Amino acid sequence: MVTSERIFLCRDESSALLSDALHKSTHSQDAMDQLKVTKKGFYTKLVDISSYKIENLSITLQDSIPEDTVHETSLHKKYRNYFHIGAAIDGNSYRDSHAALWKEHFNAAVCENEMKWTALQPSEGNFQFGQANAMVNAARSNGMLVRGHVLVWFDQTPDWVFQSPYGGQASKQLILERIRTHVTRVMQEFKDRVYAWDVVNEAVVGYDANNQDVGEDLGTLARWGYRNSKLYQIAGEDHILEAFKAAREADPDAKLFYNDFWNYLDGKREFIISFVKKLKEQELIDGVGLQCHLNISPAKEKLSNQSAYQTVDNLEKEIKVYAALGLDVHITELDISIYTRDYTSDDQSRWYMGYDLNEDYQNRLAARYKDFFDMFRRNAGKIQNVTFWGIADDNTWLSEFPSGRPDHPLLFDKHLKPKRAFDAIMNFDR
Ligand code: G3I
Repeated sequence: MVTSERIFLCRDESSALLSDALHKSTHSQDAMDQLKVTKKGFYTKLVDISSYKIENLSITLQDSIPEDTVHETSLHKKYRNYFHIGAAIDGNSYRDSHAALWKEHFNAAVCENEMKWTALQPSEGNFQFGQANAMVNAARSNGMLVRGHVLVWFDQTPDWVFQSPYGGQASKQLILERIRTHVTRVMQEFKDRVYAWDVVNEAVVGYDANNQDVGEDLGTLARWGYRNSKLYQIAGEDHILEAFKAAREADPDAKLFYNDFWNYLDGKREFIISFVKKLKEQELIDGVGLQCHLNISPAKEKLSNQSAYQTVDNLEKEIKVYAALGLDVHITELDISIYTRDYTSDDQSRWYMGYDLNEDYQNRLAARYKDFFDMFRRNAGKIQNVTFWGIADDNTWLSEFPSGRPDHPLLFDKHLKPKRAFDAIMNFDR
């Protein structure tokens, strides 16, 4: 980008733009060398600029465009020097009344459900790419990066995966073959359009002394371990290894992620690291996805609830720990529920039934978003992508799951207007 007589190189400018900018400068001067340019997160390449002759031009290489050059109202443009800003879309939101907001404020996308195994291969060998292709192409044609979610997950995986064609349960070998076939076919389909994949999702849970899953009440927690899913029961931890191996082979250019929630719990994170390190040693993984389905504040009454540990400090720690292992960090599923985890979601006496959020909730949500985004920006060198799990409050999984309790967890309200939380994360000097 050329600004008067200065050139500012921004992290997401393409080499084409750079070449174009330099081309506009004529006349001779000392030849310059090469510049390392990253094009929209896909690859880094050296651009030979020695043939561009520059005279009377001051070139400033810096991380950010000065505040006085642009007044941004777009979320992703405001964050252009920090990280990509994504949103989960569904089969309607990318082309209905949410589309304008989506294109204005986000430069990354992920399908909320349309790339899960049930959607892409509902029966064996019957791949259905139509819906996902339409969504991915819409995102790409709007210049967005696309994350792929998700290749292997205990949930939304069809029953046939676990069944033998001869009756009874599939063997370990058959499960691993099916994982390989699914991962390979899906990644080849979206090659060059999906830059990062959640290869495996949510494979770790906490157990009590009787080996029962403790869920989110950590009062009886004895250890962390692999989730006792059908995938794990039949194929053990090899199902994870096989998924990553197949993914690396299917698209060596794609970034491969392990994605999970509650990474702010030290014990859970340490267990995740124990296998992520093994994958890293084999160069099979590039990063971790931190889901970040957060709450308006940590639990204050139920102190054994996992969310009691959901502090900005703990999230900052998890980001730093993973980054120190040489892993990319994506915030993959961000939203902030207006409820705490001190009571169950079916306690209707606690439901907030207003169509619009009142002052108190607006302010508390804005403060919580601000605190997290201040921290995300402090760690911008470690985080490459922050993706919201939805666009606006009229379409959020939190108002459906698990009880139908209305929630307002996103930056835009049910009228598709920005909430105070939006202003709170836009209000900073770059
Ligand atoms: O598509 C069917 C539809 O045909 C049927 O009529 C309807 C009836 O209930 O269900 C529809 O499927 C629903 C699907 O979303 C698509 O809307 C499922 O019931 C529902 O369970 C499913 O929920 C999704 C959930 O993952 C599945 O476990 C949520 O939308 C989605 O936001 C949520 O996303 C997950 C991430 O993938 C992983 N991390 C946690 C996150 C939140 O749970």
